[in-house]
Amino acid sequence: MSSDSFILVLYYSRHGATERLAQQIARGVEQAGVEARIRTVPAVSAVCEATADEIPESGHLYASEDDLRDCAGLLLGSPTRFGNMAAPLKYFLDGTSSLWMSGALIGKPAGVFTSSASMHGGQESTLLTMMMPLLHHGMVIAGLPYSEAALTTTQSGGTPYGASHVAGQDGRAVDSTELELAAALGRRIAVLSKKLQS
Ligand SMILES: Cc1cc2nc3c(=O)[nH]c(=O)nc-3n(C[C@H](O)[C@H](O)[C@H](O)COP(=O)(O)O)c2cc1C
Repeated sequence: MSSDSFILVLYYSRHGATERLAQQIARGVEQAGVEARIRTVPAVSAVCEATADEIPESGHLYASEDDLRDCAGLLLGSPTRFGNMAAPLKYFLDGTSSLWMSGALIGKPAGVFTSSASMHGGQESTLLTMMMPLLHHGMVIAGLPYSEAALTTTQSGGTPYGASHVAGQDGRAVDSTELELAAALGRRIAVLSKKLQS
């Protein structure tokens, strides 16, 4: 894989909702003619000795530092946990100091996405705070513009800060509006990556 030729869709998901958004965002990236590379991160254990196998039993591969260094852009997804990103994703990001020191991510476009149980349970605070480490890395943050008509009419997820899903208590499926806005975010980051590289 040559450098800077793919968009990294990096997410953590425990119950699958954020993963579903990740898949749709990747579809949007590919609709814009850019390869999407989907990667996840392992859970963080309260037992310090526990270590995950290098390759997960199922699902997407775990992200490596090279995935992040070589991407042309990033879409970062996490479930909302107490109005913030989940620890496994933060743990992964906290291990990226060498990329910060070398400035490897400076100037690359990035967007964020989340899934929460409730409509007003902290999606916006999660999306906004997920942007902070990316700003420290020098990434160019993009959300969704209101030219996406669904942003005005949505009765569920989808925000100007990034794509989202309201899962409810019973794990409601990602609806068509949420899917539409997730794909739009993927396309937007892919298009921006091409513009920023040219
Ligand atoms: C520890 C923990 C904290 C959570 N905090 C919130 C919260 O602040 N607001 C909310 O609406 N949902 C909260 N949830 C629910 C998850 O955000 C929701 O179930 C989400 O859809 C899970 O995404 P996933 O299917 O990708 O794992 C929390 C769940 C857990 C386990």
